[in-house]
Amino acid sequence: MAIGTIWFSTVNYEANSSFPSRIAAQIQRRSEMSQNRHRPRYHFLPPANWMNDPNGLIQWRGRYHMFYQHNPFAAVWGNMSWGHAVSDDLVHWHDLPIALRPDSEGVDTDGCFSGIAVNNNGVATIVYTGVVEPAQLACIATSTDDDLIHWEKHPNNPVIKSTPPDLDLVAYRDHSVWREDGMWYQVVGAGIKGVGGAALLYRSHDLVDWEYLHPLCVGDVNQRDPVWTGTMWECPLFLDLGEKHALLISAWDHATFYTVCMVGTYANKRFTPELTYKIDLGDNFFYAPQAMRDDQGRWLMWGWLQEGRSQEAQVADGWSGVMSLPRVVTLRPDGRLGLAPAPELKTLRQAPKQFHSRSIAPGQRNLLDGLQGDCIELIAEIEVGDAEQGGLRLRCSPDGSEETLLYYDRNAGQLVLDTSKSSSDPSTERTNRSGPYRPAAGEPIRIQLFIDRSCIEAYVDGWCCLTGRIYPAHEESLGIDLFAQGGTATLRHLTAWPLNDIGRP
Ligand code: FRU
Repeated sequence: MAIGTIWFSTVNYEANSSFPSRIAAQIQRRSEMSQNRHRPRYHFLPPANWMNDPNGLIQWRGRYHMFYQHNPFAAVWGNMSWGHAVSDDLVHWHDLPIALRPDSEGVDTDGCFSGIAVNNNGVATIVYTGVVEPAQLACIATSTDDDLIHWEKHPNNPVIKSTPPDLDLVAYRDHSVWREDGMWYQVVGAGIKGVGGAALLYRSHDLVDWEYLHPLCVGDVNQRDPVWTGTMWECPLFLDLGEKHALLISAWDHATFYTVCMVGTYANKRFTPELTYKIDLGDNFFYAPQAMRDDQGRWLMWGWLQEGRSQEAQVADGWSGVMSLPRVVTLRPDGRLGLAPAPELKTLRQAPKQFHSRSIAPGQRNLLDGLQGDCIELIAEIEVGDAEQGGLRLRCSPDGSEETLLYYDRNAGQLVLDTSKSSSDPSTERTNRSGPYRPAAGEPIRIQLFIDRSCIEAYVDGWCCLTGRIYPAHEESLGIDLFAQGGTATLRHLTAWPLNDIGRP
């Protein structure tokens, strides 16, 4: 049955519903909340309340399962549990019961933090961080039903009883697990005092007994170039991309949150980064990503889009946190990761509008014949020409008081999301996001852009992602236009598809 913004399945929901036991109320909330102007319509988010990291991504019996860090009781972080949803097409999601929740006694009374899911000889197994403050240790849980509804926590939890004794750690949590040479390997995210973030490598034959080997890779807290990797690495994600491996880490340091991608070589159980950069120039608006390899052999990655508005506003609206669109990850010949929205998302497209060959002079407006949308996909090719900056205006109000700019700054060699005028609501965050980017010589900028109410996801030239959150105060801030400054740019062509709400396939 379709309720609210997301396909909602009642399958077995009551089976595990004592925490919370307010399912009917949640269904009602999902439907009420679809009216909320900032709540996305084709990105995944839970029926209500708080969500952070994607967890346990796995294709099981052909269906895509997504678990996520969830507070079932409020739109603030807390009571960390694993929410659960399933999809047949990567686009429409069915809510399922909460999969893991803190027990009143035992090894995770303060939360079931992030982790992953693997197929252990036909038994779905979660490796997660069980928290009894201050301890945060690796635990496992298994499921034997086809829909991964019921999870049994292992009696030997925590399966890793303590941190490596020779390391002075500031933090230790989150897991990436893979199969290699007939054994299981995992890295746990950590921070070594005075040294930097670290991914600590373990080995096991059964996911229960783990032997600590050594750090797979260690950061340098004193190194700022090309990008600082923080004091602690949350949510390590180790990807085998064939010729190269990639280690993605969520660089953490109190107020710092962004995802760093290191592409390099894995040899002798150690990883040597050769190229290090931010995987998304939106920083905390694409955080704690995880990936699954699906039946087609694709790496599919999701990240958590944090909010850019006050906690009061999140609580008042009753929801917080959005999952990114699924991103297909590949290795490019230039050594970077290719990032593309999953092609399945094309099924949401409605009839397109097309525009060709328009010159964009500074200050000019209404170059796209009044194009509007806050639930829309755009593909555009823009030649910056002699302009200093060229790109798009998004979510513009008719009087020009609100607008968001996405552009390439030729002099600075940067891709910029300028949110300084995104909202006239002063309680929303309006800090620009930007980072290094240049189109290939002689090439236009190729932008694939998704606007979903408060979410902006830009994929530029197939590798440079910039994700943002904006909260225009005016309902009529829906205009989409072209932008140039300091010279004239040219639009080669632009196609715009209004997208369907995933609650109404
Ligand atoms: C990242 C993170 C993880 C942790 C989880 C707790 O956002 O802090 O390190 O496991 O969230 O919710």
